[in-house]
Amino acid sequence: MEGQSVSDIPVQVVKDYEAMSAAAAEVVAESVRANPELVLALPTGSTPLGMFQALVRKVKAGELDLSRATFFCLDEYVGVEPDDPNSLTGWLLREFMEPAGIRPDQLHMVPSNADDVHAAAQGYEADLLALGGLDLAVLGLGPNGHIAFNEPGSQRESRTRVLALTPESVEQSSAYWAPGTPVSTTAMTMGISTLLDAGRIVLIVSGDAKAEMLRRSLKDAPSADVPASWLQTVPEKTLVIADEAAASELG
Ligand code: PGA
Repeated sequence: MEGQSVSDIPVQVVKDYEAMSAAAAEVVAESVRANPELVLALPTGSTPLGMFQALVRKVKAGELDLSRATFFCLDEYVGVEPDDPNSLTGWLLREFMEPAGIRPDQLHMVPSNADDVHAAAQGYEADLLALGGLDLAVLGLGPNGHIAFNEPGSQRESRTRVLALTPESVEQSSAYWAPGTPVSTTAMTMGISTLLDAGRIVLIVSGDAKAEMLRRSLKDAPSADVPASWLQTVPEKTLVIADEAAASELG
């Protein structure tokens, strides 16, 4: 089934979560080997954990040097600082950057707590553009079809901005937040257009709970209802890596 194409976007279907993680880590590693100064964005959530572990193993084995790469965060809650236990940036630091030996100065953090978030969002885009934009964006698929925190309603042209999270995303986030802490209901996220401008995009998807949303993302006409469906507008540079459970509704 590997390499099977089910829509214009190539879909690599692999057996299970471990295989998805290994395949995604290999894409990241190959990209960094081809361009050690790669500019990339990596997702948060439970999906990328195995990929992070595989990448850390490669770094520790001396097979991968990430010391010249530059990382941009995809999204962050408003009102949450990186040292907050609920921060997405802090999570990325703990789960990946620190174990992989990546220096803090290699990471650009989403300025979700700036006094003027609009100006700060434009500044984030400018910082990215100054480095030539993203070479690689690795994305997870939200249960509501979001990529980064581009919630349903996100337009193809959207850029880095603050937006309200849907109740479904707030519910998803609450699983990670300390019990009793109210989840932030707004976030700053890279926009759809910011992501689609990347040189290469990899969407990683695992588990049957994502199967219907993956089908809608790849088969429904692209629309803001399912933000991941905008990936269909850039099939030539997109790759979906899905395990058999996530791919089970692709036919
Ligand atoms: P998950 O989140 O990996 O925890 O399912 C995916 C996402 O919302 O991007």
